[in-house]
Amino acid sequence: MIERIAQLRAEAEHALAAAQSSEQLEQLRVSYLGRKAELPRLLREVAGLQAEQRAAVGKAANVARQALEAQIAARARELSAAELQQQLQRDRVDVTLPGAPPQPIGRLHVLTTTTRELEDVFLGLGFTVMEGPEVESVHYNFDALNHSPTHPARARTDTFYVSSSTDGRASVDGGELVPAPAASAAASSPEGELVLRTHTSPMQVRAMEAHPPPLYVVIPGRVYRPDSDATHTPQFHQIEGLAVDEDITLADLKGTLLVFAREMFGEQRDVRLRPHFFPFTEPSVEVDVSCFHCSGKGFLRDGSRCYLCKGEGWLEVLGAGEVDPNVYSYVPTTEANAPGYDPERVQGFAWGMGVERIAMLKHGIPDLRLYFENDLRFLEQF
Ligand code: PHE
Repeated sequence: MIERIAQLRAEAEHALAAAQSSEQLEQLRVSYLGRKAELPRLLREVAGLQAEQRAAVGKAANVARQALEAQIAARARELSAAELQQQLQRDRVDVTLPGAPPQPIGRLHVLTTTTRELEDVFLGLGFTVMEGPEVESVHYNFDALNHSPTHPARARTDTFYVSSSTDGRASVDGGELVPAPAASAAASSPEGELVLRTHTSPMQVRAMEAHPPPLYVVIPGRVYRPDSDATHTPQFHQIEGLAVDEDITLADLKGTLLVFAREMFGEQRDVRLRPHFFPFTEPSVEVDVSCFHCSGKGFLRDGSRCYLCKGEGWLEVLGAGEVDPNVYSYVPTTEANAPGYDPERVQGFAWGMGVERIAMLKHGIPDLRLYFENDLRFLEQF
C-alpha cells in the first residue's frame, strides 16, 4: 500500500507540475484529492487496517496528501499570477491610439460668418448693430428715401408687394406672374402699402427716428427682389451702414470703407469711388476694392488676364454716398431723437453692401444659388 501511495504521489506531482491553467489545476485536484479519488479513499481505509500497518500507511498517505495540497496551492499561486499578467497585457489601453472620430457637429452658414465678420469690422470702428423689419412699408422703403412715385424700382415687376386678403391672411405678389392686389385696399391699411423690403436702406430713417445724432449704425438683414438667375436670387442679404454727425464728408466714407476693404480682403487693398446715382444719397458713388487676386494689376504673373476682376484691377463691392439732405426732412423730431436731424447742422454717409457678393469674392464662390441649395458638400467647405 505504501508503494501505491508513493506511486500516486509521484504521478500527481508530475501532472500538477505540468498543469497549464488554473482550470486544469482544479481538475487535477479533484482527480487526485477529490472525494472519489484514490488517495483519500486509501486514507479512509486506514481505519480498517491492522494496528501495525495502520500508523505507517496512515502517515504515508497523510504526508502525501499534505505534500500534494501544498504543491497545488503553490502552483495555483503561480498560475493565477501568470493569468493576471496575461489579462493585464490583453486589457492594456494604448493611450497613443487616435480617439473615436468626433461626431460632426453643425457649423454656421458662410453667409452668417461673413455677416458677423463684417459686423466685427464696423463694431471696431464704433458702429452699433441694429435690425429692422423685412416686411416694410412703402413709406420707409421708397418714399422716405426720396423715390419719386414713378421710380422704376417701385414697379410690381421689381418689388414684392404684400397684400392682406379678405380672410386676413397676408400674401406676397411681385413680378408679372401674379396679379397685383387692389392697390386701394392695401393703401387704405394704416401702414399704407407693404412690401418685402428691397434693401436695408429703409432702416436709415427708422434708425434716425429712434436715436439722436451722432449716429453710427450698421444694419444687416434679408432683402427681397423678384429676380432669379446665377447672379440674382429673390432673397439675399445686405449690410447697411449709416453715420450721421457734424462735419462728415465723403472722405470719412472713403476712410471707413478703406478699413473695411483691408480687414476683409487684405492689408494691401485700396478703394476707389466712382460717381453713381441713388435717390437718397447726394453725391452717390459706387465703391470698388482693388483686386486681391491680381493685386490690382488686372493680369496674373503668367501674363494672363485676371479672371476675378476681368482685367479691370478693381472689384465693385457696394453702393454709397452722402445722405441726401432731403432724407432728413422725413425724420420727425420726437422725444426719442431730440434735437433731431437738422440738415443745416448734421451730415452723414451711408452705404449698402451685398453679403453674398462679399462672400463670393472672398471665397471664390461662382454661383449665387449655391448659398441656398443646402448641399453639404458646398456648405462644409467654410
Ligand atoms: N440701397 C442701395 C441698394 O440696395 C445701396 C445703398 C445704400 C446706396 C446706402 C447708397 C446708400 O442698391
